[in-house]
Amino acid sequence: MKVLVTGGAGFIGSHTVDLLLQKGYEVRVLDLLQGRVHPYGKPKYISKEVEFIQGDVSDKDTMSNALQGVEGVFHLAAYQDYMKDFSNFIKANTFSTALIFELIVEKKLNIKKIVFASSQSVYGEGKYACKVHGIQYPDCRDVEQLEKADWEIYCPEPDCKEYLKSVLISEAVTNPFTAYGISKEALDRLALKLGRRYEIPTASMRYSIVQGPRNSFFNAYSGVCRIFTLRLINNKPPVIYEDGKQMRDYVHVLDVARANVLAFESSQANYQAFNVGGIEGTNLINYTKLLTKVADKNIEPVIAGYYRFGDTRHTVSSSEKLKKLGWKNEYTLEDIFKDYLKWVHEQPDLKDRYEEVEEIMKKQSVLRKTANNKLSAISNGKG
Ligand SMILES: NC(=O)c1ccc[n+]([C@@H]2O[C@H](COP(=O)([O-])OP(=O)(O)OC[C@H]3O[C@@H](n4cnc5c(N)ncnc54)[C@H](O)[C@@H]3O)[C@@H](O)[C@H]2O)c1
Repeated sequence: MKVLVTGGAGFIGSHTVDLLLQKGYEVRVLDLLQGRVHPYGKPKYISKEVEFIQGDVSDKDTMSNALQGVEGVFHLAAYQDYMKDFSNFIKANTFSTALIFELIVEKKLNIKKIVFASSQSVYGEGKYACKVHGIQYPDCRDVEQLEKADWEIYCPEPDCKEYLKSVLISEAVTNPFTAYGISKEALDRLALKLGRRYEIPTASMRYSIVQGPRNSFFNAYSGVCRIFTLRLINNKPPVIYEDGKQMRDYVHVLDVARANVLAFESSQANYQAFNVGGIEGTNLINYTKLLTKVADKNIEPVIAGYYRFGDTRHTVSSSEKLKKLGWKNEYTLEDIFKDYLKWVHEQPDLKDRYEEVEEIMKKQSVLRKTANNKLSAISNGKG
C-alpha cells in the first residue's frame, strides 16, 4: 500500500516513515521543511526510498497532488510554538485537516484510513479531583495566583478553597486554552466527525510529551529534554520553572511510531481518539535528577522563581484505551535519555542557547518572574 506522511521530515513523522518502510509500505512525504525546525534543509535521515514533496499542507494544489495515488494518510505536519501568531496554528493544523477531507470528497479519492496527530494539549489544564466536589476540569491558573508562587490548582466551584489533586487524563473531556490546543481539538473533531460522516476511517492520536532521537534542536516545542541536556553538556545547571513539582508524562518516539501504525492497521481504532502517553507521571525535579545521572554529571538544577505563562500544572495521560488495542510502552524514561544523549553527541553543534531563548521568552512575556522572586507559596488555602 502507498501512504502519504505529512510532516514526514520531522521528529515523529520520520520515525513513523521508517517503521512503515520496514513493514513494506511505499511512502510519500509532504513536508515544508519549515525553517524553524530544519534550518539546514532536508535532514539526512530521510530514506532514499521515500518519494519527497516539499510543500505546504495548507495549499490546496500541493495537497491535491500529494494525495493522488495513495490509499492511506498520516497527517503529522503541524505548526507548534508558544508565540502569538494564533492564525498560523489554525492554518497549518486545522485548515489543512479540513482540506484533506474536502479533497477526498471532491475528487472521490480512494483513501482507506487517515491517522491524525493530535496532542495532550487538547486537555488544557487537565483532569483533577476535589475532596468536596469530585472530578473537575479547571481552566488555567490566573497570573495573580502565579505571581504569588502559589502553584497548585484550586477547585473552581464558588467558595471552595480546596486545592485539587491531579488524576490521570482519559479521552472523554477536552478543554484546551491555547491556540495550539484549540487547533488540535478542532482537528480532532474534524477527523472523527467528518470521517464518520463520509465513511473515511480515521484515528486521532493525542500524544503526551514525545522524546527521543531527531527531536529538532530548533523547534520551540522540543523543550525540556533538549534544553536541559544542552545545559548539562555545557556544564551549566538546568533552570526549573515553578517549584519543579509539576507532573508530566514522556513517551519514546519509537513507541509513538508504533502507536501510529497500529491505529492505521486496526479497524477497531476507527473514528476513535487515543492518548499515547508515558509509563507514568514524573515531576520535573525527578526528571532532571534522572537526566543528570544518565548524562553522568554532578550538577544541581536551579529554581529561580520563574514561571512560564500558559504552562499547565499537572498533565499525565492514561493510555489504557490504546493498550486495549495491543499497544504498550517499550521504553522507560531512562531509555529515552540514553537514546537522546547518544543522538545528541552525534550532532555538530552542541552550543547551549538557553540564555538567548530565555531573553526571547522574557521579551514576549512568556517567561515571567514571581513577585519578590518567590519560589513557592506557604499558604494552604485561597486566602
Ligand atoms: N513532539 C511532541 O512532543 C508532540 C506532542 C503532541 C503532539 N505532537 C504533534 O505531532 C506531530 C509531529 O510533531 P513533531 O514533534 O514530529 O514535530 P516536528 O516539528 O519535528 O515535525 C513537524 C514537521 O512538519 C513540517 N511542517 C510544519 N508546517 C508544515 C506545513 N505547513 N506544511 C508541510 N509541512 C509542515 C515541518 O517541516 C516538520 O518537518 C505534530 O502534529 C505535533 O503537533 C507532537
